[in-house]
Amino acid sequence: MNDAVNPLENFDDGTLDRAFRALAAEVTADAASMDTEAFRLHWLGRKQGRLKLISESWLKSAPPDARKPLGIRFNQLKQQIEAALESPAAEPASQTRGLDITLPGLVRAPGIPHPLLKTMQEIVDVFHNLGYSTSTGPEVETDFYNFEALNFPPNHPARDTQDTLIIANQQGRPARDRLLMRTHTSPVQIRTMIAQPPPVRIVIPGKVHRNDAADATHSPIFHQIEGLCVDTDITFSDLKGTLDHAMKALFGSSVKTRFFPSFFPFTEPSADVQISCIFCNGKGCRKCKHSGWIELLGCGMVDPAVFAAVTEQRALAGETIPAYDPAKISGFAFGMGVERIAMMQYGISDIGHFYSGDMRFLEQFA
Ligand code: PHE
Repeated sequence: MNDAVNPLENFDDGTLDRAFRALAAEVTADAASMDTEAFRLHWLGRKQGRLKLISESWLKSAPPDARKPLGIRFNQLKQQIEAALESPAAEPASQTRGLDITLPGLVRAPGIPHPLLKTMQEIVDVFHNLGYSTSTGPEVETDFYNFEALNFPPNHPARDTQDTLIIANQQGRPARDRLLMRTHTSPVQIRTMIAQPPPVRIVIPGKVHRNDAADATHSPIFHQIEGLCVDTDITFSDLKGTLDHAMKALFGSSVKTRFFPSFFPFTEPSADVQISCIFCNGKGCRKCKHSGWIELLGCGMVDPAVFAAVTEQRALAGETIPAYDPAKISGFAFGMGVERIAMMQYGISDIGHFYSGDMRFLEQFA
C-alpha cells in the first residue's frame, strides 16, 4: 500500500524544490530495489499510484499561481519514472526473475592450449625425451647477443636477412649494447653457454621478430625452437641422427631427411634440413613444388668463433680454465619455425589463422 501523502505547507520555489528532490531520490531507490511491474504500479497506478495521489493532494491545495511550477515539476518526475521503466538497469534481474530450471544451462567452454603452443610443447617433448632441458631468454635483446657473439660482425651482409625493429634513442650506447627485438632464438645459445660449462643440451622455445611483410606463410612476429648440444666428441653424425629422429617423431616414422649445404654465421658447416614431403610421400605435389622434399629447418656445427665469444665473456666473469675450448669440445645447433611445422601438421594454408583469435578456428584444436 502506498504511503500517505503529506500536504505541502508552503508553495514557494524552495519548498517545491526540496519536496521534489526527495521524491526523485525515492524514485531512484525504488527503481533499483523493486520489480518493474511493482515499480510501475507503485508510481503510475491509475487509482492508488503515488504520482496520482501526490498531484491530487498538492494541486488541490495549491494557490493558482503555484499550479504552473508544480505542474512542471510533476512532469519532470513522471519523465524520470518512465525513463527508469525503460532502462533495463532499473530491473534487478537476478533478484526478481527467479530461476527458470527449464532453460538450457550456460556452457562455459574449457580453455585449451593454442595450436602453436601445442606444437611447441610436442617439439620440446621430443627433445626432453632425449635428455634436453628448456632455456628461455629475453625478446628485447642486445646487438651483442643477437648478432655479434653469433659471429655477425657489424655491417655484415648476413644481418640483412634478419632486419628487425630497434629500440629508439640509443645513439649514446656502444653498438653492442643497443637493444632490438630478437630476430631468432639463437642469442639464448650464447646466454646459456656464458652461464654454464658443458655439457649443454637445451631447447629454446620463443617468439622472434623480423621485418618481413605478412603474407600467407610469413608473419613479422613468429616462433622458433632452437636446440644446442655441446659436449666432448659431438659430431655431424650426432646432429644428423638427432634431427632425423626428431622429424620422425613429429611427422611419422616413414619420413626421410636430407641435409643441404647452407650458411649461418654461427655454424660451420651449416645445413638446411629437408624432409620427404608428407603430403605426397615424396612423389611430388603442389605443396612440395613437385620436388618431393620440404625445407624445414637450419642447423650446423657450432662455429669456433662462437665458442671464442663465449670464452671471452666467461673470462671477463672470472673463469681461469676455459670450459669452451674448441680443441676439447664441440657442438651442434639447430633452429626451426614453429608456425611452419604446425601448418604442416594440421594442413593450415594461411599463417594468419594462428593470430586471428577466431574461435571457429581455435575450437578445432580442443
Ligand atoms: N637462427 C637461425 C635462423 O633463425 C636458425 C639456426 C639456428 C641455424 C641454429 C643454425 C643453427 O635462421
